[in-house]
Amino acid sequence: MGRYRVEGGYPIAGEMETKGSKNGVLPILAAVLLTESEVILHHCPLISDFFLTLEILKSLGCRIKRDGRTVIIDASFADKSSIENEIVQKMRSSIIFMGALLGKYGEACVGYPGGCEIGVRPIDLHLKAFREMGVTIRDEKGFIYCTSKSINGVKINLDYPSVGATENILLLASKAKGQTIVYNAACEPEIVQLAEFLNACGAKITGAGTECIVIDGVQRMHGTEFTIFPDRIEAGTLLCAAAITGGEIHLKKVKPDDMRQTLLRLDEVGCKMIEGQNEIYLKAPRVLRPVDIIYTGPYPNFPTDMQPQMMSVLTLARGTSIISETVFEARFKHIAELCRLGADIHVEGQTAVIKGVKKLQGCHVIGRDLRGTAALILAGLSAEGETVVENSQYVERGYEEFEKTLTALGAKIRLEKSGDRYNEKEDTFTTR
Ligand code: UD1
Repeated sequence: MGRYRVEGGYPIAGEMETKGSKNGVLPILAAVLLTESEVILHHCPLISDFFLTLEILKSLGCRIKRDGRTVIIDASFADKSSIENEIVQKMRSSIIFMGALLGKYGEACVGYPGGCEIGVRPIDLHLKAFREMGVTIRDEKGFIYCTSKSINGVKINLDYPSVGATENILLLASKAKGQTIVYNAACEPEIVQLAEFLNACGAKITGAGTECIVIDGVQRMHGTEFTIFPDRIEAGTLLCAAAITGGEIHLKKVKPDDMRQTLLRLDEVGCKMIEGQNEIYLKAPRVLRPVDIIYTGPYPNFPTDMQPQMMSVLTLARGTSIISETVFEARFKHIAELCRLGADIHVEGQTAVIKGVKKLQGCHVIGRDLRGTAALILAGLSAEGETVVENSQYVERGYEEFEKTLTALGAKIRLEKSGDRYNEKEDTFTTR
C-alpha cells in the first residue's frame, strides 16, 4: 500500500532496458507444474504478481530457488492439486493454474475468482472448454472442483479469443489424449511465448499466434531453460511517458513487432521513432496531434492494456481524439481522475471523447487498477506542480520498481509506503 508523489515538468530522457513480460511469465509459471524436472527461467520481472505466483507454486509443493531475475523451479516434488481461495482472490490470473493442475493430476480445486460464471470477468469460456475435454466441474462454496477420468483432445471453438482461456486450453491439451484444435484462439505474443515454452518442455503445439492452434497431447514433459520475452506493455508505457513529457527515450530489449498498434498510434500523435530489431528510439513532438479513433481489441488490435496510458497522452494533444474500449467494459476508471488533473474527457458508454487541453494541473488522484494507475502517473509527469497518485500496489503488480525506472529517466517521482487508507479490493474489470 502506498502512493507516488510526482513532481511534473521533467521530460523523460535516456536509455532503458525493458523487463520481462508480466502476462508472459504468469502462464509459464503455471506451465512449469506440468514438467518433471528442473526449469530455469531467466529475465523474470520482479513484480508482486510474480512473487505471488511463486507462492502458489510453493504451496503446491514445488521447490524454488531464485537468484535475481532467474528462478529455478522443480515441480517433481509438487503433490497438491488445490489452491487457496485467498490467493485466487488476490490475483485473478491464478485461474490459469486450473489447466496445469488438471493436466498434471486429472483434478483441480481452485477458489473462485469472484462472482459467478456469468458475473464479473467470467471464466465461462475456460470451463466450457474443460467440459468439452471431459472434465466434470462443480462449483461449491466459492471453490471450483474439477475432476476427470480421462482428458481427451477435441475441437474447441472459442466464442471469443480469450487470452486466459486459450492459455488454459494449451496447458490442459498438452497432456490430453490425442489432438486438440482450438479455433478462434487468442493470437497475443504471450500465447506464442507460452507455446514456445511448452514445446521446449516436450509439448507438440503448432499454430500459436494464429487463430487456429493444434495441440498433440504428450504423456510426459521435461524441464528446460527459457528466457521470458520483454514486456510490451511496460515498453509501451515508457514510450508514452516520453511522449507526454516532450522527452526522448531509447528502449532496449523490446520486440517492436509485438507492439505495432502502439507504435503506429505514437507515430500518429507525432512522435519520431527509429526501430531496430530489439530496440526503439522515440522523440516526442513539440505539439502532440490527436488521433481519429482507437478501438481496443484482441491482438493484433490496439491492446486494452495500453488504453489508459495512451489516453493520458491524448489529453494534451492539440485537438479531439476518440477511444472506444471493446474488451473490458469497466476499464475507464482512470477518466474521472484524469479530469481532476484538468483533462477534458467525455464518456458515452464504452467510448471516450478526449479534447486536448494545454496543460494538466497536479492534484491528488486515486488509482483503481493496474494500467489506469500507471496512466495517472504519466499524467502527473507532465502536469504542473505535484501529483499524488494513491494505490501504488496496483502498479507494483505489473511494473518492477516503476518509480526507479522513471527516476533513472529523469523524472521526479518517489514512492511512499503507508497504511491501509485506500485498501480497495483487487482491480475488477467487468465484462465485454
Ligand atoms: C489477459 C491479460 C490482461 C489483458 C487481457 C486482454 C493476463 C494475466 N491478463 O486477461 O492483462 O487485459 O488478457 O488482452 O494475461 N471473457 C469471458 N469469458 C471468459 C473469459 C473472458 O467473457 O471465460 C471476456 C472477459 O470478461 C473480457 C474478454 O473476454 O471481456 C477478454 O478477456 P481475456 O482475453 O480472457 O483476458 P484475460 O485472460 O482475463
